[in-house]
Amino acid sequence: MSAIRVREGKIELLDQRKLPTEMTYVDCPDWQAVAAAIKNMVVRGAPAIGAAAAYGMALAAGSLQGKERESLLAGLEEAARGLKATRPTAVNLAWAVERMMNFARSQKTENPSRLAELLWAEAEKIAAEDVVTNKKIGQHGAKLIPQKARILTHCNAGALATVDYGTALGVIRSAVEQGKEVTVFVDETRPYLQGSRLTAWELQQEGIPATLIADNMAGFLMQKGEIDLVIVGADRIAANGDVANKIGTYSLAVLAQAHKIPFYVAAPLSTFDLKIDSGSLIPIEERSARELTHFAGVQIAPSGIKCYNPAFDVTPAALITAIITETGIIKKPTAETINKFFAEQENVGD
Ligand code: MRU
Repeated sequence: MSAIRVREGKIELLDQRKLPTEMTYVDCPDWQAVAAAIKNMVVRGAPAIGAAAAYGMALAAGSLQGKERESLLAGLEEAARGLKATRPTAVNLAWAVERMMNFARSQKTENPSRLAELLWAEAEKIAAEDVVTNKKIGQHGAKLIPQKARILTHCNAGALATVDYGTALGVIRSAVEQGKEVTVFVDETRPYLQGSRLTAWELQQEGIPATLIADNMAGFLMQKGEIDLVIVGADRIAANGDVANKIGTYSLAVLAQAHKIPFYVAAPLSTFDLKIDSGSLIPIEERSARELTHFAGVQIAPSGIKCYNPAFDVTPAALITAIITETGIIKKPTAETINKFFAEQENVGD
């Protein structure tokens, strides 16, 4: 099972709207199809939408054959804008598109088909790097998991949300691979149900013990001493360590603090947006009222009721025990600890 499949010069995206009951792929022969798939939630999860968009840029280059270099670059800019406009919160999307755009600009070739080939190879590199990154996140994060652990997670930060292996679920996978005895409580994650439809399914496929709970049960379990730690993914991390993630993450962090339970965030470095000083500047996607008023196509709220449906919230850094990345763990994230961590990355190899 992979969220993104590459076939004969096009990509196919696992239709995550249909999981867990149906496994079908949506063909994406051009960047517009990739953009539509991201917007319509065929593919979701910060690293997965980044990698899909990178392939979208390569597909755009493929469709701009017969053009002069300048008009090819202009066509790529248009694709970049279209792809970035699909979902606003996860920064990995803009990160991947900008990396592809900068890569295209840096290539000196005048040959459009060569440029398309180079961009395709760069998209494959982004996808391959994501898997390596997630395995490293897993290795670092597994050190934080006790030999026996009851873990709570929210949304889906697994293989389905990445190219493979996952971030938060990558840490859980890695702990299991090390022989740790792990059981996972899966928040169903209203209203889009990424927890029950995707995480519960993924863990079941993997044979990792999992128990599904409704979101409002987490506090009760913590109060009874049945959760040892919480681990979630992230869509964007500000320079001060504030984390945007699926709506409901903040409530869990507050509960975890009240019950003195560690609260971990697992994310690649590409999820950090160091241009943003604090989480209050992160754009929060608002989704359709229908996600609240209907359940599996059945109306469950009165017609015409006013709805509010933010898809993400921001957890202040002060509530986060540590952020787990591919190059190490940032304990007690603050503007200072994050700044120091990134400065050390730059010094690696000096
Ligand atoms: O709306 P979604 O399903 O794209 O939201 C996904 C999440 O919030 C994930 O937790 C986040 O992207 C991290 S995925 C490794």
